[in-house]
Amino acid sequence: MLDNAAKVDRMIQISGEIALCRQCELCNSRKNAVPGDGDFLAKLVIVGEGPGAWEDEQGLPFVGRSGKLLDQVIAKDGRLKRSEIFITNVVKCRPPGNRTPLPEEILACKSFLFAQLSTMRPRVVLCMGSTAAQTLSGQLAPLTRLRGRNLSGLSPAIVATYHPSYGLRMGDSVVKLMESDFSLACSLALEA
Ligand code: URA
Repeated sequence: MLDNAAKVDRMIQISGEIALCRQCELCNSRKNAVPGDGDFLAKLVIVGEGPGAWEDEQGLPFVGRSGKLLDQVIAKDGRLKRSEIFITNVVKCRPPGNRTPLPEEILACKSFLFAQLSTMRPRVVLCMGSTAAQTLSGQLAPLTRLRGRNLSGLSPAIVATYHPSYGLRMGDSVVKLMESDFSLACSLALEA
């Protein structure tokens, strides 16, 4: 097991590798790779699908409209600040036009996500949207069937919820489910 200083060093090293990565076509259209942001020692990691236009511009995850909804969900629960969570994506470079990442792009990129998770060893991974939920749980069921419970018997717990872009489209009923899933993830992360 790495001590905290070694974890931070390794996470910085992984971010550097991501910034230089040319393992799939997405590197050709990116402005910035988006390795992730937040506390490298967090107990809770949130994983989205891939950067959008704002994220590509700034090199930071969830800084556009979806990010604002995520901020709202985090603030409403109130137990963790955004800065106490680590937030990242399955693919670290923006898919053109925000399309779903292709299987070969996920395959090329997911070793970075797994390296981040095995370095951090968080208690909980909250997957937002089916790309993250399916990549991390290995289950291909629709999100409606995956959300709302711990999908993993081992550590870390894996909780799935809707992607904020779906929450933005569908409104209150979906946002309420996202709040409930976030609350479950937070409870598992903060459990004694
Ligand atoms: N959508 C994602 O899946 N990730 C981001 O970082 C932003 C929007």
